[in-house]
Amino acid sequence: MSADPGTRKAKFQILGIETSCDETAAAIVADGTDIVSSVVSSQIDLHARFGGVVPEIASRAHVELLTPVVARVLVESGMEGAELDAVAATVGPGLAGALLVGVSTAKALSLVWGVPFVAVNHMEAHLYACFLEDPTLEPPLLVLLVSGGHTMLVSMEDHGNYRLIGTTLDDAVGEAYDKVARFLGLGYPGGPAIDRLSLVGDPDAVPLPRPMPEGFDFSLSGLKSAVIRYVRLHPEVSTADVAASFQRAVVDMLVDKSRRAAREIGATTLCLGGGVAANSLLREKILDAYIEDGLKAFLPSREMCTDNAAMVAAAAWWRYQSEGASPLDTGVNPSLRLA
Ligand code: KG4
Ligand code: ZN
Repeated sequence: MSADPGTRKAKFQILGIETSCDETAAAIVADGTDIVSSVVSSQIDLHARFGGVVPEIASRAHVELLTPVVARVLVESGMEGAELDAVAATVGPGLAGALLVGVSTAKALSLVWGVPFVAVNHMEAHLYACFLEDPTLEPPLLVLLVSGGHTMLVSMEDHGNYRLIGTTLDDAVGEAYDKVARFLGLGYPGGPAIDRLSLVGDPDAVPLPRPMPEGFDFSLSGLKSAVIRYVRLHPEVSTADVAASFQRAVVDMLVDKSRRAAREIGATTLCLGGGVAANSLLREKILDAYIEDGLKAFLPSREMCTDNAAMVAAAAWWRYQSEGASPLDTGVNPSLRLA
C-alpha cells in the first residue's frame, strides 16, 4: 500500500470515478489539484429521445463505458493502476443502479491494485471542483450548489464541515430548467438549451413571479407552472422570450438569496458548483452582485461545473487526509446528505 499522504514526498495520485447520473467519468488527480488525465463520456444521446435520464439505460451504459473510460485515463496518464495511491468513487446522492456500477468497479480496482478505496459525496465533489481549480481558496466560504437534483446554499466552515442554510422546497434548479425546456420542446438537457436561446430573447417579455420562501430556501415549481400557464394562454409568444424571461427569474432568485445569505453569515467569498453553475447569466450576475458588495466570487470553469471525475478525485484527497480509507463494505446511498 502507498505511503500516508502526510509523510509522502511525491504527489498523491487518486483515480476518481463518477457514475451517479448520465456521465461515465474517470480522472487521475495529483494532490487534489493537478489533473493528470480526465475523461468524461456523456450518455446524453442515449437519453435525449426520452426527454430525460432513464435510470436503467444509464446503469447499462455505465457498465459498457466505464472500463474503456478508466483504461483511457490510465493510458493518457502513462501510469499502471498499481502506481496509484487510492481509488475513489461517488457513493451518492444519485441513481442507485448507476452509483453501484462506479462503486463496485472502484472497490474491485482497489483490491486488485492493493490501494485504499475512498467514498465520495457527489455534492461535496461539486464543491471541491472549486478547490481543484483555485487551491488558494480557504474556508469559511458560502457555497451555492445548483445541479439537476439539488439546490443548496451551504456555509462551509472548514474542510468537511458544512452547515446547510438553504435548499429547495420543491424542484431543484436544474430540474426546473429541464422541465421547462421539455415543455418548450427544446430537448434534453434543458439547461444549456435555455441558456443558448436566452441570448436572443427579451428577459422582460414575459411577466413571471420570483417566489421567495422564508429564510434562504428556494421554490421553483411555482415559477415553472407560471411559464406553462403563460405559454398556454399566449401560444404566439416567442420561445426565446419565454426562455430569457424564465432564466432571468431563476437567476434573480439565486443571486438575491446568495447575496443576502453572505451578508447574514458574514461570508466574504462565494463559490459556485453543479451543472447550473455553467449558466452564463448566473455567472455574470453573481459576479456583478459580489463586486458591488465588495465580496469575492469563485466560478469554476464550465467543464468543472457539470459532472466529471476530477472533482471526485479532488474531494477524495481531502477526505482521505482527514478520515483515511473508507471501509470496503461502504454501500451506495442515493439520498446521501452533505450536512
Ligand atoms: O451537476 P450536473 O451535471 O448533474 C447533476 O448532478 O445533476 O447538473 C446537470 C444539470 C441539468 O439539469 C442541466 O440542465 C443543468 O445542470 N445545466 C444547466 C446548464 N448546463 C447544465 N442549467 C442552466 N444553464 C446551463 N448552462
Ligand atoms: Zn452533479
